[in-house]
Amino acid sequence: MNLDTAAPPLWDYDLIADRLRGPGWAFLPNGLDTALALDLLQDLHQLPDDQWRQAGIGRRQDHHTNDLIRRDAICWLDGRSSAQQRYLATTDALRLELNRRLLLGLFDYECHYARYGSGAFYRKHLDAFRGRSNRVLTTVTYLNPDWQPDNGGELLIYDLDDTELARVQPSLGAMVIFLSEDFPHEVLAANRNRFSIAGWFRRNNSTADWVDPAR
Ligand code: OGA
Ligand code: MN
Repeated sequence: MNLDTAAPPLWDYDLIADRLRGPGWAFLPNGLDTALALDLLQDLHQLPDDQWRQAGIGRRQDHHTNDLIRRDAICWLDGRSSAQQRYLATTDALRLELNRRLLLGLFDYECHYARYGSGAFYRKHLDAFRGRSNRVLTTVTYLNPDWQPDNGGELLIYDLDDTELARVQPSLGAMVIFLSEDFPHEVLAANRNRFSIAGWFRRNNSTADWVDPAR
């Protein structure tokens, strides 16, 4: 990966680390550089239809689709375009800075574009279950210019007692970062297409009979 092409991160790493130590989640209204967010949106629009998959739930042998739970389509980022490379370089810098401050031992980041068509939702869920996943930190990055409050599509974040903590509009460049095991969240239906990048920083749980990473 060519790190020279990385967009300069606008992130205040100390602030993000403080928020993750404290409440365990952070909202960055201007988390991603606007030019990079627009390049990612263009990149996503250029993907051929056959690159998109109906999103599923569960991992490995448990993986299946369930359109009562989620109705988005996804495409994994693999660095195939300059925009993807710049995004992955930026999140890798974040990974190293958070490891330095929080000693999380994050070794990897996996992420996918998500397309929620009008009416699509993702019911309340956790991205990781204690002791059963190597997903440590979730990031969600939004790619929707001119999002209006009456477009819907908010991300609702809860604590483990089901108290609502935040409602985030999926506006271009906004980002949310949270501890994957601690915050149930859901995506409300929108009345227009809604695009995001959902990503996970992971810890290496490899053992003698289990090799990470695996999706
Ligand atoms: C997910 C997810 C939230 C969003 O993909 O796991 O919760 O706002 N996405 O797109
Ligand atoms: Mn999620």
